[in-house]
Amino acid sequence: MTVLITGASGGIGYELAKLFALERHNPVHHNLVLVARSADKLAQVATELQARGVKVKTIALDLASPPAPKFLFDQLQREGIVIDILINNAGFGAYGEFAQMPEQAILGQIDLNVRALTELTRLFLPAMVQRHSGRIMNVASTAAFQPGPLMAVYYATKAYVLSFSEALANELRHTGVTVTCFCPGATHTDFAKRAGVENSRIFKQLGAMPADKVALDGYRAVMEGRTLAISGAHNWIVAQSSRFAPRKMVTAVSRWVAEKVQ
Ligand SMILES: NC(=O)c1ccc[n+]([C@@H]2O[C@H](COP(=O)([O-])OP(=O)(O)OC[C@H]3O[C@@H](n4cnc5c(N)ncnc54)[C@H](OP(=O)(O)O)[C@@H]3O)[C@@H](O)[C@H]2O)c1
Repeated sequence: MTVLITGASGGIGYELAKLFALERHNPVHHNLVLVARSADKLAQVATELQARGVKVKTIALDLASPPAPKFLFDQLQREGIVIDILINNAGFGAYGEFAQMPEQAILGQIDLNVRALTELTRLFLPAMVQRHSGRIMNVASTAAFQPGPLMAVYYATKAYVLSFSEALANELRHTGVTVTCFCPGATHTDFAKRAGVENSRIFKQLGAMPADKVALDGYRAVMEGRTLAISGAHNWIVAQSSRFAPRKMVTAVSRWVAEKVQ
């Protein structure tokens, strides 16, 4: 079995890679293909995981670049590497009002969180369907369940991931291929720093979960073939409650949570 994990140089993706490499959680032997931009960090992860007896291939690639997913797919095809499990984890957020946000930050989020995820799914799915076997996990967020003032594009990209994944899971229900949408809430990784949300109310006052615990929830969800999994009971309650409250109120609360505090 070979697992492809995007965004595996750190954070949740790295923790997922460790879980797939670990015998303790995992009776099946998994080899790994790990993708991220930083070649040096990927090399470190590979050295660490190879010591556990799994084969690790690393590919340093900026997946926000439109040709990158096809480049990755072609390289693996050429090398005869079959992907049994695809984990679309790489993603980033950018904080700030949309009117002031640089084009690069807006389009970069769409290119990585939406375009690359969709393109990788398009490329790797047909062979899974043909084999009547395969798993795809798309990492969304609890941000998927409501609009997010001050991170409008990020929240919208994650709503796309949720909607796309649930629809796909339904289309594939008789094929032997499962699609899992995994939704972490605030998690201690480099995400908050890159997004510029370290001082937001959610990260500063409401608390974030450790990345290893979140990854374990994701690992279990994909291996069980669950269509939707939300990490953390408190995150599950928040995601459900937004379904019954007036949308304007939900949006206002979402803004309050994202606002910066001293
Ligand atoms: N942390 C949270 O609070 C949180 C909450 C909900 C959902 N999520 C989601 O969880 C997923 C993982 O995030 P994380 O928290 O683990 O963040 P992270 O610590 O910043 O890790 C992101 C990973 O993606 C890689 N990456 C970023 N941009 C990339 C690009 N253009 N091309 C290829 N790889 C790229 C990064 O490596 P390089 O920098 O080396 O490229 C890194 O390996 C994301 O989809 C995020 O939206 C996070």
